[in-house]
Amino acid sequence: MTPRARKALVLHGPNLDLTGRREPAIYGTTTLAQIDAALAERAAALGWSLATCQSNHEGVLVDFLHAHFQDCDAIVINPGALTHYGLSLRDALAAMGVPIVEVHLSNIHARESWRQHSVIAEIARGQVIGLGWYGYLLALDALDRLVPAAGGA
Ligand code: DQA
Repeated sequence: MTPRARKALVLHGPNLDLTGRREPAIYGTTTLAQIDAALAERAAALGWSLATCQSNHEGVLVDFLHAHFQDCDAIVINPGALTHYGLSLRDALAAMGVPIVEVHLSNIHARESWRQHSVIAEIARGQVIGLGWYGYLLALDALDRLVPAAGGA
C-alpha cells in the first residue's frame, strides 16, 4: 500500500497577495503565485501534499487552521504584519500541535523596532528570515527532515 503523503499547510498573511509588486526593494519581485508554484513543485518532489491559504483577515487564517485541525503534519507560515500582534492566530497555530516554520521575506531584525518582535516565534519550531522567496523552500525542506514519511524515509 502506498503511504499517505505528508500534508503541510501554507499560510500567507495580510498584504502578501501583493508580493512581487509591493515594495520590491524589500520583498523582491517574485509573485505569490510564483512562490506557491515553486512550493508545489518542491512538495511533489519530496512527497508532500499542500493546502494553501492567503488572507488579509486574521479570522480567515484561524478558520483555515481549524478546518485542518488534526489533518496536517506541518505548517509553513508567513503571517505578514500579524507576526507582530496576531494573538488569535498565534493561539490557533499553537492548538495545531504540529511543527511550524515561520518565514519572512525581509530581515525583520534589520527593520523598524516594532517589526523585530514576533508573537509567533515562541511557538515556531524555527524561522527562515530575510532570504526572500527561497525561504519558503528552505522551510519546507526543514519540515521534510523534521517530519518523517510514514514507513520511513
Ligand atoms: C513580512 C514582514 C512583516 O513585518 C510585514 O508586515 C509583512 C511581510 C516579510 O515577509 O518580510 O507583511 O512578514
